[in-house]
Amino acid sequence: MTYSIAQLLTQDITLQPIEIKGWVRTFRANRFIALNDGSTINNIQCVVDFENTDESILKRITTGAAVHIKGDLVESQGKGQKIEIQVTSIEILGDSDPDTYPIQPKKHTFEFLRENAHLRTRTNTFSAVMRLRSSLSFAIHKYFNENGFYYMHTPIITGSDAEGAGEMFKVSALDAKNPPLNDEGNIDYKQDFFGKETNLTVSGQLEAETYAMSLGKVYTFGPTFRAENSNTSRHLAEFWMIEPEVAFMDLDGNMDLAEDFMKSVLGYVLEHNKEDLEFLDKRLQDVEKKLPQAQRSEMSLIEKIKFVVDNNFKRVSYTEAIDILKNCKPNKKKKFKYIIEEWGADLQSEHERFLVEKHFKCPVILFDYPANIKAFYMRLNEDGKTVRAMDILFPGIGEMVGGSQREERLDVLKEKMKALDIPEEELWWYLDLRKYGTAVHSGFGLGFERLVMFATGMGNIRDVIPYPRTPQNAEF
Ligand code: 4AD
Repeated sequence: MTYSIAQLLTQDITLQPIEIKGWVRTFRANRFIALNDGSTINNIQCVVDFENTDESILKRITTGAAVHIKGDLVESQGKGQKIEIQVTSIEILGDSDPDTYPIQPKKHTFEFLRENAHLRTRTNTFSAVMRLRSSLSFAIHKYFNENGFYYMHTPIITGSDAEGAGEMFKVSALDAKNPPLNDEGNIDYKQDFFGKETNLTVSGQLEAETYAMSLGKVYTFGPTFRAENSNTSRHLAEFWMIEPEVAFMDLDGNMDLAEDFMKSVLGYVLEHNKEDLEFLDKRLQDVEKKLPQAQRSEMSLIEKIKFVVDNNFKRVSYTEAIDILKNCKPNKKKKFKYIIEEWGADLQSEHERFLVEKHFKCPVILFDYPANIKAFYMRLNEDGKTVRAMDILFPGIGEMVGGSQREERLDVLKEKMKALDIPEEELWWYLDLRKYGTAVHSGFGLGFERLVMFATGMGNIRDVIPYPRTPQNAEF
């Protein structure tokens, strides 16, 4: 019977002849193969009877080769593992030339591995990260499923560019060299595939709102595109966003939902991905050991995740946050690049980081932002100048979640759109929700890769998505 290594190492399998397939990580002393098949961070040791194995086969047991091993599962005589396989036959399924195979059994830089992203999941770090990514993704669907949400597939190609969440990528089937022009000399999108200008979506929120207003509780979890020229360690041009939307829920309910949701999915990986987390925890500690004391984290990776799961997020209004920032040392000593002088200022990541990392030292939910720095659809407060917006900020990551209670009053929404020059014709269907059975409703968007960064301790968003799309980069 063929087993996975995870099965062999974790289940109580009676010692018996077994078969296994995987990739050679190392081959030592012409005798010991460390074999991995992706099912776990752990390798299984396969002991080759080299005296009775053909020399031509032994030569082909190289790092990266795919092999099919038959043998007996026995208690290990060596240290470091409880069981091992005494190989009775080995078949080389796919050779790996040791002179050219890029993933050698030594430390590679993340930059080098990014250039070899098609092979980087053959390393411990990237296999652990991607197993965690998969697990988090499952935990997200599980959470919503268990809490009465419907999974909605919002369109990836969108005809409205009104949301304003970011620069958009155009979708067109016109001949780029020779597009048809209209009477004004502009590209005539009427002749394009959809008969209008279309783009890749920056958010599924507006469509999710339509379903929340009939199905009650829905969420989207899909690819999202932003054509911003942001070459930072936290931005991708293609990322995955989770967006729940709930009817009859106000901003307080939205905060409760976001907090409960994040605690639940992080709790899931603490329980189900122990070995991968322990590996990544140790990796991070090794990296931090080389840093000056002041730059090291106070908590290990697992401690940080547990801290989030076990403690309440701090809820702070924008106005309170501005008071804290105005009076804090780095502001007074002009250490910030952008000095906070008055209420109304947009918060930069240096301010967000100060609040979560230095001042509160825990995840922070900032709410009730000035209306003019937030999107048109957010519900205006009675004060007439703030909106029911919330951002969730995480230590080491910055903004993880952006959400709000939506403006459900037709007249207020129309006025806001008019002020921002958003044509009503473009969002007629969105306005319909406010005409027919309107009600309080709220939702948020969580950047999946930022969550994966937090859960894995990886410092660059390019290392938590299989094939990152960033400015000047769409390899693979
Ligand atoms: O704050 P944002 O722009 O919110 C929205 O798009 C709302 N429509 C969501 C909603 O209410 N349904 O984006 C939400 C989150 C951010 O907090 C961040 O975590 C992530 O999406 N995000 C990005 N992640 C990676 N790369 C980028 N370029 C990102 N832009 C936003």
